[in-house]
Amino acid sequence: MRRIRKAVFPAAGLGTRFLPATKAQPKEMLPLVDKPIIQYVIEEAVASGLTNIIIVTGRGKNAIEDHFDVSYELEQLLQERGKTDLLEQVRAISNMINVSYVRQGETLGLGHAVLMAKDLVGDEPFAVMLGDDIIDSAVPCMKQMTEVFERHGGPVIAVQRVPRQEISAYGVIDGIPEDAGDRVFRIRDMVEKPKADEAPSDLAIIGRYILTPDIFEALERTPRDAGGEIQLTNGLRALKERRALYGYRFEGRRHDAGNKLGFLKATVEFALQREDLGAPFRDYLRGLKL
Ligand code: UTP
Repeated sequence: MRRIRKAVFPAAGLGTRFLPATKAQPKEMLPLVDKPIIQYVIEEAVASGLTNIIIVTGRGKNAIEDHFDVSYELEQLLQERGKTDLLEQVRAISNMINVSYVRQGETLGLGHAVLMAKDLVGDEPFAVMLGDDIIDSAVPCMKQMTEVFERHGGPVIAVQRVPRQEISAYGVIDGIPEDAGDRVFRIRDMVEKPKADEAPSDLAIIGRYILTPDIFEALERTPRDAGGEIQLTNGLRALKERRALYGYRFEGRRHDAGNKLGFLKATVEFALQREDLGAPFRDYLRGLKL
């Protein structure tokens, strides 16, 4: 079993749910408190032992590359002004990872974005992590998943129970429990955005995957859907015919930072957890007439 070293971050989407903020700025760079959302997810990858980062970008995404690049002028300025704390923080970002970029020319869906990383991933298992899902947990979600991958030896898809009335926004798995802890499921089938009364379960697919390189061939054969996109879920359905796939109900709290309400909730919770901001922010919230 090969150790997972590489993580693919599809970040070429248009972020229409966040317009107008995303007109000229990538959604991934919106800050939760004072850190862009993509940095939280990259930090989760690093904390899970994945330091080889592949970001799939598109038009108007230069800010992401700049963020993870060395900023000589800024570093020099901070040094001259003796702001060593900030200097260390800024340096840590570019030192943190070994990052490569690949471009998705047209936004043809998540499956297509993953396919763009084929050559950079090569012939080894890898992670796919979506910046929209920020997971707050004692053990990083991706670390939990690499352990499941090592135990079961097949692709692992993160899932979470969601209320029935919300299920139609997600990909949903039909799975049989694989362990007594009700966390690992052997996937029988999966459906993209089912109607509430047609969903096979309440286990929704969240933006964390461990995939094996045979997914690329499956995606190459996956036809475009009605909207003209290649869905990752459809590629995975094809792969399921050839090997066992697992759903993993991770331990942790997930924030959907890809929509405005989820983003606001995450901002409040992360600010409350901060040592420097938590207490005054809590006082401020208490004083609001709600
Ligand atoms: P979303 O469905 O959230 O799409 O994609 P989006 O464009 O980012 O946002 P909305 O829905 O228009 O507001 C899920 C993830 O897949 C990436 C996105 O960047 C996001 O991380 N993605 C999606 C691509 O990289 N390429 C695509 O063609 C589609």
